[in-house]
Amino acid sequence: MSVALEMRNITKRFPGVLALDSVNLLVEEGEIHAVVGENGAGKSTLMKILAGAYQKDAGQIFVRGKEVEITNTIDAQKQGIGMIYQEFNLIPHLSVAENIFLGRFPLTKSKKIKFDELNKMAQQYLKELETDISPQSIVGELSVADRQLVEIAKALSLNSSVLVMDEPTSSLSPGETEVLFGIMRKLKESGVSIIFISHHMDEIFSIADRVTVLRDGKYIGSWPISELNEEILVQKMVGRQMSDMFPKIEAEIGETILEVRNLTVPGYVSDVSFELRAGEILGIGGLVGAGRTELVNAIFGAIPTSEGEIFINGSRVAINHPQEAVENGIALIPEDRGQQGLVLKFSVKENITLPNLKRFVKRIEINTDQEEALADELVERFSIKTPSLAQLAENLSGGNQQKVVLAKWLGMKPKILILDEPTRGIDVGAKAEIHKLIGKLAAEGIGIIMVSSELPELLGVSDRILVMCRGEKTGEFTREEATSEKIMMAATGAIEMGVN
Ligand SMILES: Nc1ncnc2c1ncn2[C@@H]1O[C@H](COP(=O)(O)OP(=O)(O)OP(=O)(O)O)[C@@H](O)[C@H]1O
Ligand SMILES: [Mg+2]
Repeated sequence: MSVALEMRNITKRFPGVLALDSVNLLVEEGEIHAVVGENGAGKSTLMKILAGAYQKDAGQIFVRGKEVEITNTIDAQKQGIGMIYQEFNLIPHLSVAENIFLGRFPLTKSKKIKFDELNKMAQQYLKELETDISPQSIVGELSVADRQLVEIAKALSLNSSVLVMDEPTSSLSPGETEVLFGIMRKLKESGVSIIFISHHMDEIFSIADRVTVLRDGKYIGSWPISELNEEILVQKMVGRQMSDMFPKIEAEIGETILEVRNLTVPGYVSDVSFELRAGEILGIGGLVGAGRTELVNAIFGAIPTSEGEIFINGSRVAINHPQEAVENGIALIPEDRGQQGLVLKFSVKENITLPNLKRFVKRIEINTDQEEALADELVERFSIKTPSLAQLAENLSGGNQQKVVLAKWLGMKPKILILDEPTRGIDVGAKAEIHKLIGKLAAEGIGIIMVSSELPELLGVSDRILVMCRGEKTGEFTREEATSEKIMMAATGAIEMGVN
């Protein structure tokens, strides 16, 4: 095997943060190399340096044994380094072919785009990926999984020999993840090296050849996957032994606080009914696109329903706007933290205390001492890794942004808390902390609805699990009855059982 890429003693400092402290990464030709570590460990920063999006403060980069300078994205492209961004790097209203060859269109002598040729060129790369996406499809109308394939086709068209994928599976269904893994294995056989970042241990063990571990910006080491198991790898990542990953806290389950009857959202949710009790954690399982997000958004008044009734503590309520949901004691922590959950240009403190500001306003002056104290407490409680409360939310690592969103809504002390994929993108250690926190909130009598695509999380945290498939409720299981098999069967529509 020969070395495709080597990053040596890479150091990167941000104001108040040593993000990378002399980190190494060696990737061989035709291997899938996982880079793992807790939230804020420095994974994305290392990759952004490789892709020319950030400048390193010190260190060297070698491509096929030759030292190179990468100061911008064009340099990276020239060195054959391709970065697969998630969705946001494509232009939604352009076609697939236009996106793949953006800025490199085949032109006629009079500078008109030769669309036939453009589509044919795109088709060639799409065929390589064994996908039936049409070159003429508009990117904005594609699924996340398909947009990712377009990104990969684009990278291949740029002759990339090293592909970087930063959490590519975080919004894919298990089926889509398998398709992506199939493509990754094929690319690897053709000699392409892939750097793969994921927080999912099962994915790392099924796809990676070698693993590099970062912790707190430091290089911990690299190992062939065959020398590791899940427990050892997690221990290297967190620097301590992880015992119970999903500790279930006993909570007293009280009266029914929420009842949803025959809720229908045209095109997404059909005729779903369920109850939630105080102190209960109701998990909602299903595949991506099953209508779970639409269901909880409808309960929260964020999207309109065509039918259905909602009762809180036995009385019927009309919730046509999120404000009315909040007034009824409902909080929803959305799936998409970037778009809905966070004001990226605000500081950590401002984001956390945003929904709580009313509590601190005396006439018009904000009581900054109390605001600071609450933010401090929540940063501590969630172990949010930030140099200060004044740091802009956009400068935090992905997982730490997610923790800010959680902290923000939990400061509000709701009666009913809806969490949509609460630990997506969150590392193993922080995940356990968040599960503990969800359990504690339930023990305080809050009723919790948790949408999750992760079976261990659903099974470990929930008192009861409702499963959806294509907008319908296809299963409901108590904690004792629930198994991975039953949930998967109901989620794929293979069976209908336990529905009451
Ligand atoms: N543009 C920036 N300005 C300031 N600090 C930053 C910036 N980008 C990253 N950081 C900080 O650098 C550290 C490493 O962040 P990075 O995004 O690389 O972590 P990560 O390993 O990708 O984490 P995650 O798993 O949460 O995505 C964090 O402390 C983060 O807050
Ligand atoms: Mg990251």
